[in-house]
Amino acid sequence: MLQVSRLNVFYGKSQALRDVSLKVNEKEIVALVGVNGAGKTTLLNTISGLLRPASGSVEFLGKRIDRLAPHKIMNLGICQIPEGRKLFSDMTVGDNLEMGAYSSAAWKRRKETLERVYKVFPVLKERRNQSAKKLSGGERQMVAIGRGLMSNPGLCMFDEPSYGLAPKLFLEVLEVVKQLREQGITILLVEQNVRNTLQIADRAYVLENGHIVLEGKGKDLLQNERVKTAYLGM
Ligand SMILES: Nc1ncnc2c1ncn2[C@@H]1O[C@H](COP(=O)(O)OP(=O)(O)OP(=O)(O)O)[C@@H](O)[C@H]1O
Ligand SMILES: [Mg+2]
Repeated sequence: MLQVSRLNVFYGKSQALRDVSLKVNEKEIVALVGVNGAGKTTLLNTISGLLRPASGSVEFLGKRIDRLAPHKIMNLGICQIPEGRKLFSDMTVGDNLEMGAYSSAAWKRRKETLERVYKVFPVLKERRNQSAKKLSGGERQMVAIGRGLMSNPGLCMFDEPSYGLAPKLFLEVLEVVKQLREQGITILLVEQNVRNTLQIADRAYVLENGHIVLEGKGKDLLQNERVKTAYLGM
């Protein structure tokens, strides 16, 4: 579904991604794990068109997308869920969600999609008329995810959903990720919380200093000596 090939991305003269290749098959949960500054967000921003690679390519459903504008990429069915902090605080929960349906196709279906989102997150239905600034961290993350789903994505990319969440809430987010996959949505999950993320990932990549150093099945990487020492404190 998604094929990233030999991407090189720079900020000015400093190189943030070096020959990064990865693929995500339809209905997989693929994880990309790495510490602060490894280049995880840079990769997501390059896939979603916010950054331009110096070289390499990104293909989605067989089509080159690395020169397209971000809104065109989103219309093809890729959504990026930012951290839950980045909501429109002065708007209601319901309005924040509807903002996610801005392509004309998604806008036409927004009532029906909204009901699907409320099925995944019943608490958001209860709070739909409340201002987003009154939400807890976990609820804000739910709104951020729900807003992404409003675009009817085929591929949903999460950027560190554990950020600012209590561990128990993060586990709930991972349950939602699994539910979304069961509904047919493909997942690229970027995380620093390596242990819990590898447990739910079908396959995973480890990014260090802008370079992929390991890849494999999530469960196999949990047993990998390098992963155990560097990421699991074992
Ligand atoms: N706008 C920018 N301008 C210059 N350098 C940047 C910019 N954004 C990121 N970088 C640098 O690029 C590298 C990769 O950063 P990136 O944000 O992609 O990492 P990350 O893995 O998402 O980290 P984190 O876990 O902290 O979110 C880092 O060295 C970072 O300092
Ligand atoms: Mg980041």
